Amino acid sequence: MARDIPLGTVTLGDRIGGGGYGEVFKAKLEPFEQVFAVKLLNPSPFHSDVARLNARFIKEAEMLMTLRHPNITPIYGVGEHDGTPFILMEYFAGYDLYEARERVGSPEPSSVLPFVELSCLALEHAHQRKIVHRDIKPTNLLTRRGDARVVDFGIAQVIDPDGERFTQTGGTPVGDAYAAPELIDNPRLIDRRCDIYSLAACWFWLLTGTTPRGRNWEAALRAVGGMTQDYENVLLRALDQIDKRHQTMRELVTDVRALQEGRKPDAPDKGMLDDDAILVLTAVFENYALEFEPVSAYSLERHLAGVLSRFALVLGLRSLRSRELVKGVTVEPDFNNNEPWLGYKVTEQGEAWIEKNRDHVESLLSALSSQSDVLEGQGHESVSQSVEDDDIPF
Ligand SMILES: Nc1ncnc2c1ncn2[C@@H]1O[C@H](COP(=O)(O)OP(=O)(O)O)[C@@H](O)[C@H]1O
Ligand SMILES: [Mg+2]
Repeated sequence: MARDIPLGTVTLGDRIGGGGYGEVFKAKLEPFEQVFAVKLLNPSPFHSDVARLNARFIKEAEMLMTLRHPNITPIYGVGEHDGTPFILMEYFAGYDLYEARERVGSPEPSSVLPFVELSCLALEHAHQRKIVHRDIKPTNLLTRRGDARVVDFGIAQVIDPDGERFTQTGGTPVGDAYAAPELIDNPRLIDRRCDIYSLAACWFWLLTGTTPRGRNWEAALRAVGGMTQDYENVLLRALDQIDKRHQTMRELVTDVRALQEGRKPDAPDKGMLDDDAILVLTAVFENYALEFEPVSAYSLERHLAGVLSRFALVLGLRSLRSRELVKGVTVEPDFNNNEPWLGYKVTEQGEAWIEKNRDHVESLLSALSSQSDVLEGQGHESVSQSVEDDDIPF
């Protein structure tokens, strides 16, 4: 059913999806040959709270503007037609997971791994920008030939730096078969690990045709042809209780890659660290490499100024010490210091952790350095200098 509704230079074509609060159409943008996608705010008269819908729509556009990742459809612009706002974005010629499963039936477990990996990477990118999707379900994951797109950041939320406080706009996904179980007790929770659960629930559904709910749901997985013990362990772990499942998308990606390459996935609980702790770990490591001396909390605080609060630094140090990735050492006075002081050093285990998670550490640091230049090689001395040089553009 082709529609020809001119929206300025944008012309809508076939409807390709939607229902909830948006409707998505193929679109042409004069004078380009390329096909685009347009998401129109659903003008349904059943929606009474127009102001709230508009707010949600603007927020979705804002989220898409923040995200730049090959597995997240880029936004090209926004507009309005007859008072109805729309988002112009990449058209991805793929299938949502319902359509995909309709086409292929029960897929081979190994065949869905590239799609799962790319979806993890898209969400990792969002998580690094403190955005939690919160509505991962089969209609919001698109696939084609192992490629993937995560769509619909309509109820995504930014993690509040001060903790779990947030202002509610948009809906809450509680009750959805793919929503993490901890949301039932705490519907306001905004936690990256909920996306990990939901992605795994979609993955589970893709393989079994059932959701991981009810009694003895795990059994469905064992009945899947071509399932290995390692594969089952990884998927079940991603669906485990919040503290037992993979703690970051990077951990899940690492396991998914291991499955693809026939390597052994990691045993559970390998000193999982949150991003703040990783930043502290690399700061301790870098300082030691520069000075060959344990680093004081004071210089760490200066090193991480503008990146981490003092509070996050203290928590990070505590979690690193309890995992024995960093140790505290008493440094005897020398001619500069007349009292012994406490310094921090990365342990051998800590160095091994950095080495093993090098990809993640580097992607974290590069995400940061695009936002700030604080970490760029500034050890101890350059604080006053950087203030004076403030107006130099390069
Ligand atoms: N960029 C896109 N390219 C192709 N199909 C898309 C695109 N964005 C959305 N879709 C399709 O439209 C459906 C609805 O889009 P979505 O953003 O999830 O809207 P809603 O908020 O109504 O759920 C999706 O499930 C998907 O099938
Ligand atoms: Mg959707």
